[in-house]
Amino acid sequence: MMSKISAAITAVGGYVPEYRLTNAELEKIVDTTDEWIRSRTGIEERRILKGEGLATSDLAVPAITEMLAKKNIDPKEIDCIICATVTPDMVFPATANIIGDKIGATNAFGFDLNAACSGFLYALTTGASFIESGRYKKVIVVGADKMSSIVDYTDRNTCILFGDAAGAVLLEPNTEGYGVLDSVLKSDGSGRPFLHMKAGGSLKPASVETVTAREHFAYQEGKTVFKFAVVGMADVSAQILERNNLTADDIAWLVPHQANMRIINATANRMGLPMEKVMVNISRYGNTTAATIPLCLWEWQDQLKKGDNLVLAAFGGGFTWGASWVKWGY
Ligand code: UT7
Repeated sequence: MMSKISAAITAVGGYVPEYRLTNAELEKIVDTTDEWIRSRTGIEERRILKGEGLATSDLAVPAITEMLAKKNIDPKEIDCIICATVTPDMVFPATANIIGDKIGATNAFGFDLNAACSGFLYALTTGASFIESGRYKKVIVVGADKMSSIVDYTDRNTCILFGDAAGAVLLEPNTEGYGVLDSVLKSDGSGRPFLHMKAGGSLKPASVETVTAREHFAYQEGKTVFKFAVVGMADVSAQILERNNLTADDIAWLVPHQANMRIINATANRMGLPMEKVMVNISRYGNTTAATIPLCLWEWQDQLKKGDNLVLAAFGGGFTWGASWVKWGY
């Protein structure tokens, strides 16, 4: 009898660029204060990828290279690369293919997936399905965003929030019940007015006018997104517990998207989890969109134990939101 195949996370990698954009530096660029940023968001600094000719794939590649080296895996063994991002190197081709080329994953197919801040959860669930089907043995899921490429550093509402980073996981088949065990994924496109990029798509292609009007940057109505995020992220996190008969005591870690400390607190609270069980690094990296969750896993990997129950949760542009239950496999 064949036992059920699940998709275990068997390795994690991460990368943050060197340059630290501090609240003090932002105080010199826009009308803001360190005190406002800390108290409203929990952010103290973010990393920025500086330098000509560098893109999102240049964040993803070191994260993946480190991960494969740790496991002694030849990139030629990789079957598939899924890159979650809202800042692809180019509109097309997919960043996943550029990453595949740069790391020498010549036997892999790849594609990008855009679900904004929930991108990693969508990609993780998609990658897990490929493994569960029995068709693929090694799938890389990478969340990577060079947010500095779409941030308007004259807009104090958004420029204080975002940073650049990448985080990756390797998915492999497991028959002992470890891995990505369930996901609740949601989207509601009616939320698009509140968080989007106004131009550069087929609705409004790039023109001199769109550039002049600064429409190629992330636009957000923070207060509205905040209201939906607090409710949405907490709802799906509670739901994933309930439908799997889990209680707060069963959960070793909550791994929340890092958009705002107050949203993270609300989610932990709703799940009945003490903050010691919540991965939080927002103060050092800000909101790195698709990278926040794998970046947490990367930073906490030494504290994770085989069998630990993790809840990964996110909310973001789209609106998109979701939560995944992962049983740690090593
Ligand atoms: O990851 C994707 C999903 N995104 C999110 O989850 C983000 C959700 N939203 C948020 O985290 C929060 O809404 C923000 C952190 C973006 C903003 O915090 P807020 O408490 O909602 O502030 P607000 O937008 O309501 O602004 C309050 C005041 C306003 O001034 P008035 O109108 O009260 O005079 C803003 O103009 O703060 C002002 N303000 C600032 N002041 C100093 C806005 N940005 C700044 C700033 N520095 N950087």
